[in-house]
Amino acid sequence: MAESFDLTVIGTGPGGYVCAIRAAQLGMKVAVVEKWPSFGGTCLNIGCIPSKALLHASEMFEEAGHTFPQLGIEVGAPKLNLPAMMAHKDDTVASNTGGIEYLFKKNKITAFKGTGKIAAQGKVTVTAEDGSETGIETKNIVIATGSVSANLPGIEIDEEKIVTSTGALKLDKVPDNLLVIGAGVIGLELGSVWARLGAKVTVVEFLDRILPGMDLDVAKQFQRMLSKQGFDFKLGTKVTGIEKTESGLVASLEPAAGGEASTLETDIALVSIGRIPFTDGLGLDDLGIERDKRGRVVTNGHYKTNLDGIYAIGDVIAGPMLAHKAEDEGIAIAEILAGQAGHVNYDVIPGVVYTNPEVASVGKTEEDLKAEGIAYKAAKFPFTANGRAKAMLAPQGFVKILADKETDRVLGCHIVGKGAGEMIHEAAVLMEFGGSAEDLARTCHAHPTMSEAVREAALGLGDGSIHI
Ligand code: FAD
Ligand code: NAI
Repeated sequence: MAESFDLTVIGTGPGGYVCAIRAAQLGMKVAVVEKWPSFGGTCLNIGCIPSKALLHASEMFEEAGHTFPQLGIEVGAPKLNLPAMMAHKDDTVASNTGGIEYLFKKNKITAFKGTGKIAAQGKVTVTAEDGSETGIETKNIVIATGSVSANLPGIEIDEEKIVTSTGALKLDKVPDNLLVIGAGVIGLELGSVWARLGAKVTVVEFLDRILPGMDLDVAKQFQRMLSKQGFDFKLGTKVTGIEKTESGLVASLEPAAGGEASTLETDIALVSIGRIPFTDGLGLDDLGIERDKRGRVVTNGHYKTNLDGIYAIGDVIAGPMLAHKAEDEGIAIAEILAGQAGHVNYDVIPGVVYTNPEVASVGKTEEDLKAEGIAYKAAKFPFTANGRAKAMLAPQGFVKILADKETDRVLGCHIVGKGAGEMIHEAAVLMEFGGSAEDLARTCHAHPTMSEAVREAALGLGDGSIHI
């Protein structure tokens, strides 16, 4: 007879594994189904974690060459050992995915290795790699099958020369030239890795700006910083094809608005034009589970699909494709299934681009506020006026805070600067509690810290910043 569970989670990315752990903590008997050899999904295996390992290592490499001498440290020109850097990345991945295995055991979660298919409400079939099938009976099912890279029509990904992020995380040599298609988060993060290690990076972006969705002020300043780091941007341009030649690749480019075509030679092309939800093989069509035009599983405010007992979270549903959004939804649905009031505040989901400097954002952008007709006030504080930033040779960037003109409630915060990804949480916590710019401005901040720039920006919304 099939084993029976309170909850079966299909997919063990940040959405699925966090959901399974919280559900087990709340007393449910939980199963997970995972088709990959290791747990942790895109994020731990081929996404957040390996990319951050390479971003950190390549940043250290760059600092050793450029920043150390300015600090009076003479170590000579740094020499790249790419296999060792990749080994650091692989070790980091293994240690994180192994951690999930440990947490599953600790929380008495039963893991099924294989591809999960929803056979009916309350029934999941797992097909292992050897073709054997196992049936699971379950009160509830959570679909957490994530997303995969989107592709351009007519361009064949081989993960060696024409790569997605997966191939770009394991190149065996530094390319002389790297063409990045799409100036979004993946393109700029992985472009940074290879640029720091010596590649000439050209970014082709369809729109007339980088990082769509981020505050435009921040995106413009950040683009100038990346250009100084050697990035070449071709905005308002699309790639219409890529031809493989003996020596590498030749990409065909066209202005997005139409016009004269051109070509660009490169060694490697990274296709980073977004990700699409992944539901192949789940049997959703047979069951009549609704998806929207973009292939995302349609859910109500409580993550329920149109069928009772079947829920979905993470990249496979609407909303930002971010690990922490998936995790929070995992906790929320586990709480809802346990009879609690699980909830995610979609107005306060930070977004971080882990480049150097980092770009971090939470809440509304100026463009959002203008479009929504909300009266707001804005203040900016530059890191050039922050003592700690000067001491660390990190004076680039600024903090920008947006607050309601009438009530002073903080509506958004946007930071470009070293450590922006840590500092942004100061604004996130404030916003979660409905705090005002004055609340932030009156909070004593340790000196000397980069975070003082956040307070200074908040002071700028009142009687004025002190240090500018
Ligand atoms: P996923 O992590 O995609 O996991 C889905 C899992 O489901 C996979 O393990 C898959 O094998 C499994 N699966 C699918 N179908 C089945 C099936 N039928 N049966 C069994 N198993 C199945 N986000 C951030 O917040 N910060 C970052 O720094 C960041 N960096 C990223 C870098 C890169 C290069 C990429 C590609 C993404 C990055 N992301 C980042 C995005 C982040 O990885 C995703 O938002 C997150 O992984 C989504 O989690 P998820 O649980 O919804 O799905
Ligand atoms: P993205 O949506 O961030 O950026 C894609 C870019 O490609 C956009 O600027 C878009 O205008 C452009 N584009 C689309 N079609 C194009 C075309 N034909 N030619 C040229 N440009 C084109 O997608 P990306 O970078 O692939 O990342 C996917 C997801 O992964 C994102 O949703 C992101 O949230 C997540 N991610 C998050 C990270 C983080 O939080 N640090 C890191 C990496 C990925």
